[in-house]
Amino acid sequence: MADELINLTIDGAPVSVPKGTLVIEAAKQAGILVPHYCYHPGLPVAGVCRMCLVEIEKAPKLQIACATQVAEGMVVRTQSAPAKQGRMGVLELLLINHPLDCPICDQAGECELQDFTFQEGRPATRYSPDYPKRFNPVEDFGPDVLYVPNRCILCTRCVRFMEDIAKEPVLNVSERGDRAYIGIHPDARLDHPWAGNVVDLCPVGSLLSKDFLHKARAWELDKTASICTGCSQGCSITLDTRDNVVVRVRPRPNLEVNRYFICDHGRMNYRWMNRGDRIEAPLVQRDGELHATDWDEACERVATLLRGAGGRAVALVSPKASIEALFLARELFAGGGGGLEWMGAFQVVMGEEAPLVGVPDLALRAERAPNAKGAELLGYSRDYAAALAAAETAAIVLVLDEPDLVVRTAGTLIYAGTVLPEGARAAAVVLPIANVAEEDGTFVNRDGRAQRYFQAKPAPGMARPAWWVLSELAAAAGRGERVATAAEAFERLTAAADGLRGLVPA
Ligand code: SF4
Ligand code: SF4
Ligand code: FES
Repeated sequence: MADELINLTIDGAPVSVPKGTLVIEAAKQAGILVPHYCYHPGLPVAGVCRMCLVEIEKAPKLQIACATQVAEGMVVRTQSAPAKQGRMGVLELLLINHPLDCPICDQAGECELQDFTFQEGRPATRYSPDYPKRFNPVEDFGPDVLYVPNRCILCTRCVRFMEDIAKEPVLNVSERGDRAYIGIHPDARLDHPWAGNVVDLCPVGSLLSKDFLHKARAWELDKTASICTGCSQGCSITLDTRDNVVVRVRPRPNLEVNRYFICDHGRMNYRWMNRGDRIEAPLVQRDGELHATDWDEACERVATLLRGAGGRAVALVSPKASIEALFLARELFAGGGGGLEWMGAFQVVMGEEAPLVGVPDLALRAERAPNAKGAELLGYSRDYAAALAAAETAAIVLVLDEPDLVVRTAGTLIYAGTVLPEGARAAAVVLPIANVAEEDGTFVNRDGRAQRYFQAKPAPGMARPAWWVLSELAAAAGRGERVATAAEAFERLTAAADGLRGLVPA
């Protein structure tokens, strides 16, 4: 049964929303952002900051939009003089003790206190410059969280996250009135596997990430939509890059997968994206050594090897490779009607599972790979040991980005990777590929959800996305058509691969 719709007007705009919707959410539908601090759609409503005051016709005084449900015929004014005056008063109160830290504060540029003060705060303070502001020293809350009490506006988002979402209530509001601050249990640390979310939730620069401390100003960052490669959950993330270096990973809201949160393992899983020891040019074996060459010669070498080959071909692939690359790696051997008998396998690093108890179906998964499901759907096996044994006698072995490569093969080894492991030095051809931050692609998470990620920075040297490299090889060997984009490769795989028909990337 469809939800009952309630009709109201907000700043003169008619809005229809399901019964029970909060005025602050209804306003979003009308394109109106009601200033707020304590409200967050991923947390229980607290109604403590009073920043979201709005005027509602027939109500005797201003109401808080975050705790008021819509009603039929309601008339809401967010920009009326009383509403603006009310919020201006709240801002003045919040700023009484707030330090002028913006020039040295990590949050500057993405701070809601800055934004709303700029938007509708008083033009100047009514306090004397000699007024002694409250001072409390910075506290070390946990492995990656610092607390700067002077900047805290006591919105309690952090307290509610730990209590209601992480279900580890180690934070509280200590003291009262203008002495209040966020306290941590004396025997506890903020070391819960999902604790880093308090830094994102804090609307000001009061909770800071040690990892990101003074690394960059918010306005220097470029933001790219991506998918976490930390485990098979497949959380939506934003990669923040500064001068083509990934400096921060933050959650991207995705109500189906991770709501507004990511775990600390995923948050810290980015340094390898900036590795400097990359393969930057195709390499071919000549006189017992690898020599740099161009893409034409490298592709031609592989094509020559494939043309004459018969017997078994083994693909040892990383479950961190895109589904486009995995599909084209399969097509290189299995497609095109050649005389090769194809077999593919992958191995997954396992770790401890760590659920975020307050959100159903959200956990750091034991399987630390983003695309194991995609590999399985394409027919790659989990029996890596059997594939390794088969590789010993195979005519051709393709390895796709397995940096811990240990493979004995009498046949020909083709290695496509980001870095060159010792075991790949005997390869006939080495092909440099982009990592996840340097290409577009798609992963299929543990629930079979295809999710696209995008390029955040350029690949080094001559490295190219694996799907591009494999499609060039196939074209050179006469075993398939070239694809120009990841989206085209995805289209081709959904048309060709049985288990993937109807898969639509989100
Ligand atoms: S530390 Fe940040 S999130 Fe926690 S109460 Fe203070 S302002 Fe709110
Ligand atoms: S749960 Fe998995 S996918 Fe989500 S942030 Fe953590 S490691 Fe990444
Ligand atoms: S956002 Fe409504 S009271 Fe804080």
